[in-house]
Amino acid sequence: MLGFVDVHSHVIPSGDDGARSVEAGLALCVEAGRRGTRILYATPHVWPSLPLTAERERLVRRAHRQMTPLLAPHGVDLRLGWELTPTERLLEEDPRRYRLGGLPAVLMEVPFHGSLALAERLGEHVEGSGLTPIVAHPERAERVRDDLGAVLTLRERGWLIQVNATSLLGSHGPEQEEAGWRLLEDGLGDLVASDGHRTARPPLLDDAYRLARNRLGESADALFDGSALDRLARPDRLDLAQRG
Ligand SMILES: [Fe+2]
Repeated sequence: MLGFVDVHSHVIPSGDDGARSVEAGLALCVEAGRRGTRILYATPHVWPSLPLTAERERLVRRAHRQMTPLLAPHGVDLRLGWELTPTERLLEEDPRRYRLGGLPAVLMEVPFHGSLALAERLGEHVEGSGLTPIVAHPERAERVRDDLGAVLTLRERGWLIQVNATSLLGSHGPEQEEAGWRLLEDGLGDLVASDGHRTARPPLLDDAYRLARNRLGESADALFDGSALDRLARPDRLDLAQRG
């Protein structure tokens, strides 16, 4: 089976709503490995109410160091990034602190309700530091569901669009499910990721991959194997003319 690259999960304990302990996180990662995930990025939330203090970062990095060698025998390469919720405060910070592992990219979400303006400003701030924004689950944003053209605008800037596997499976509701599939079918998606948090919402991609293979054919593979990340290294990251 295809080896999955999952750029979005909450499997490292960080005080957010993801894994509560190293042990719980390890169990989630082992199951992800058993179900085909080879590279798994843990992306603890950076919320307005839960910023990345030096102490929090130290604890997360320590947990990451503890977990990494224990996962190698399971074929899982656990890497560390963050998931930014747009705030004015982040516009004052150096986005390079929040890189997705060694990639020249930052994972950021868009608000479920209301304007995308602040998210766009944060994305521009990320771009200004030479990194590429990866936009997490836009299908969960009302503004995007009203007009998928909003995603086209972001993507035309070279930003990558990440759809949740759970949206494709209908876990977030029928509207999110439909929007997730429309993004992929219209060629507006770059990556499918789990956004896995816990046992009831695990970091798995295999079920969504099977569905995507049925609906999209071979082109589904590139959404699950991290192919889009290869474009990050290139100056001409996105040839929209070729990719439609
Ligand atoms: Fe997330």
